[in-house]
Amino acid sequence: MDMNLETIISLAKHRGFIFPSSEIYGGFKSSYDYGPLGVELKNNIKRLWWREMVYKRDDVVGLDAAIMMSSKVWEASGHTSAGFADLLAECKSCHKRWRKDHAGEACPDCGGQLGEAKKFNLLVSTHLGPVEDDSSLAYLRPETAQGIFVNFSSVAQSSRKKLPFGIAQIGKAFRNEITPGPFTFRMREFEQMEMQWFYDPKDDTEWFEYWKKQRMSWYETIGISIDKLKFHPHAKDELAHYAKSAADIEYEYPWGWGELEGIHNRGDWDLSNHAKYSGQDMRIFDEETKESTMPHVIETSGGVDRCSLVALIDAYRKEEVKGEERVFFSFNPKVAPVKIAILPLVKNKEDVVAKARGVAESLRGRWLIQYDEAGTVGRRYRRQDEIGTPFCVTIDFDTLQDNAVTIRMRDTMEQIRKPISELISYFSEQF
Ligand code: GAP
Repeated sequence: MDMNLETIISLAKHRGFIFPSSEIYGGFKSSYDYGPLGVELKNNIKRLWWREMVYKRDDVVGLDAAIMMSSKVWEASGHTSAGFADLLAECKSCHKRWRKDHAGEACPDCGGQLGEAKKFNLLVSTHLGPVEDDSSLAYLRPETAQGIFVNFSSVAQSSRKKLPFGIAQIGKAFRNEITPGPFTFRMREFEQMEMQWFYDPKDDTEWFEYWKKQRMSWYETIGISIDKLKFHPHAKDELAHYAKSAADIEYEYPWGWGELEGIHNRGDWDLSNHAKYSGQDMRIFDEETKESTMPHVIETSGGVDRCSLVALIDAYRKEEVKGEERVFFSFNPKVAPVKIAILPLVKNKEDVVAKARGVAESLRGRWLIQYDEAGTVGRRYRRQDEIGTPFCVTIDFDTLQDNAVTIRMRDTMEQIRKPISELISYFSEQF
């Protein structure tokens, strides 16, 4: 079901997924805050990624490196130089600056003529310590990847890993994007889920193709529509400064196809440069073969915010039920923020309410649940549909006799009866 950008922004705000940042002060361009449901959606996505990339494999380990690192890291990685820059052109009439590849020939605001394009570096910089000079200059990381490269030897040694193996990390990244938007698609502060796969270049496995397949199928397993996903192989002039080859996983957003995740063949660009700039040996030594190897790298680099946005857009449904409009989010149960709603069918009968509260307490702590006794059951179902809760459990008079409840499925509205004693095992299989 297609939705337009205005619908997403409005739903995201009114249902507590995503709020414009600093809104009481008129907002702060390109920054957004995740509300009570948004933080759950985002955490579920991160947890599912970590489970897939780290827990399910014995050849990938995790890392959480600092956001602020030595500025030498960014010199070695090529980010302080021209490679990590956008071409900007200034409007001769209103003097606003625009990304040349986004604006074309005329100013999108006033239609004025754009001047000659100049390179503009995307690093966000700050000064640390009491003196603001070149020696205190520091950058906020523009990608989490470099934290992995500079820790490569420490991770390999401490976790006794041999090639091929991967290091995974989730964390914030910052870029001084010139034309942020739409919505959370391009921001100046965002979160990445990245994995660097280190392998011996003599190894003839097609790791690039392997990781492309793995990553595409993960999006399917978290419920994203496969017909809205495609690969976009990078042409030579699209490649980032570190990449030998690359392919994006793209999603069909309401404004058209756009990047969701990048899979990059980084070769030995990063480790070799860090070896050169730091003077440290970044090769890995194999005790059996007594050989040192400079690994090559395939990177999978996804955006947490983009994935959350895609999850929202993709799950949006609008249908007519008995002449009334029903709007709901058809999230995969693993991704849904609230997992189960507990609804007593009658609220002024103490024993039914007590039973319902007991069921709620037995599930609380395992999953995020909501207990709701306000309004008609139809209204309560609608409220849960609107936030994408996959299961509503109703407690009625019969429950007092048979210790069973009714589970109503969000998408089909089908209802099944289950003994209370089976709820935990039933729901454990769903999430
Ligand atoms: N380490 C490689 C790297 O950072 P990238 O293609 O520049 O590659 C990877 O970024 C992913 O990070 C993108 O596919 C996107 O999901 C996310 N991303 C990048 N810039 C972003 C921004 N300004 N706002 C939100 N997400 C962004």
